[in-house]
Amino acid sequence: MDKVRVGFKTIEWVKDRVRILDQTLLPESVIYKEINSPAEMREAIRLLRVRGAPLIGISGAYGAALSAYRHRMSGSVAPIRDDIRLLRRTRPTAVNLFWALERMQNILDEAGPSGELRDALLREAVLIHEEDAERCRGIGTNGFTLLDDGFTIMTHCNAGALATGGIGTALAPVYVAHSQRKRIRVFASETRPLLQGARLTAWELAQNGVDVTLIVDSARGHVLATEKVNCIIVGADRIAANGDTANKIGTYPLSVLAREHGVPFYVAAPLSTFDLTLDSGKSIPIEKRDADEIAAFGRRRIAPGDVTIFNPAFDVTPHEYISCIITEKGVLRPPLKESIADCFSTP
Ligand code: MRU
Repeated sequence: MDKVRVGFKTIEWVKDRVRILDQTLLPESVIYKEINSPAEMREAIRLLRVRGAPLIGISGAYGAALSAYRHRMSGSVAPIRDDIRLLRRTRPTAVNLFWALERMQNILDEAGPSGELRDALLREAVLIHEEDAERCRGIGTNGFTLLDDGFTIMTHCNAGALATGGIGTALAPVYVAHSQRKRIRVFASETRPLLQGARLTAWELAQNGVDVTLIVDSARGHVLATEKVNCIIVGADRIAANGDTANKIGTYPLSVLAREHGVPFYVAAPLSTFDLTLDSGKSIPIEKRDADEIAAFGRRRIAPGDVTIFNPAFDVTPHEYISCIITEKGVLRPPLKESIADCFSTP
């Protein structure tokens, strides 16, 4: 199968800095922004200029490499250690960030002279990036086998190329099927409050010639009841050892709707998104974001000033609602706890 490509790069190391596609400006403007320091990288992650679990991990890794470049004269690893600690504090739910920073920390712990350290950290960050592109390809190839010509798929949030260093997770099988001339239609739910479905998924699928229809989150039940939707594919931010899966807020109710309507519910994620230290989804930390994301629409305030707002960015889908998990290593089927354990115990 030929390599499937999308027409943009989410992140790239250029000379001694990082270039990111600023996702807060999409779809109106396609603007690349230079990131010159770990502090700028932290800001980019927090503000969702770069977002999506795998891309947050890659960004964290490049943030650590930037630290080595900025502190190269000091001869001490302490400032790099501090930067890694601060990068860990940017977003709590996507485990890929902690997974990638752990790898960077390991390189630091094995550190040789400072010149070599800088190169070693950059090499590791680039490797994490390249491996992610490869993992996305694997997910695409494995997920492709679940899609027939003429399929209609529903997805939520953005688990596409914009969320990774490659062709995405949930959207990777779609891109592979599309490249093989299978006719695929996608319903994308807009994803309140930050509209990753409307701004990002609709944009990247349309850019790549995939037939996409945008709906509001509250239309999903109606669409599942009245249209033929063959399957739902979503991404993941963290998957516990029993298969419970944290993903963008609104994923859990979608899984309940899927069960009600007899539609298969697939999660697509690389192995870097699994957190086997957690027995179940109950212990996954859920990010709570700023009230203003809900209280205002663009610049216009839409809620009374004194109302209490609760803004969890993720929810947890219990493993019982998941038909299978598509990984780069294969499709994991229920009982998920056993198939996850098998997957991690075989080379
Ligand atoms: O808040 P975001 O935009 O980072 O949330 C992204 C998601 O929830 C994605 O579905 C998930 O990270 C998987 S990305 C391949």
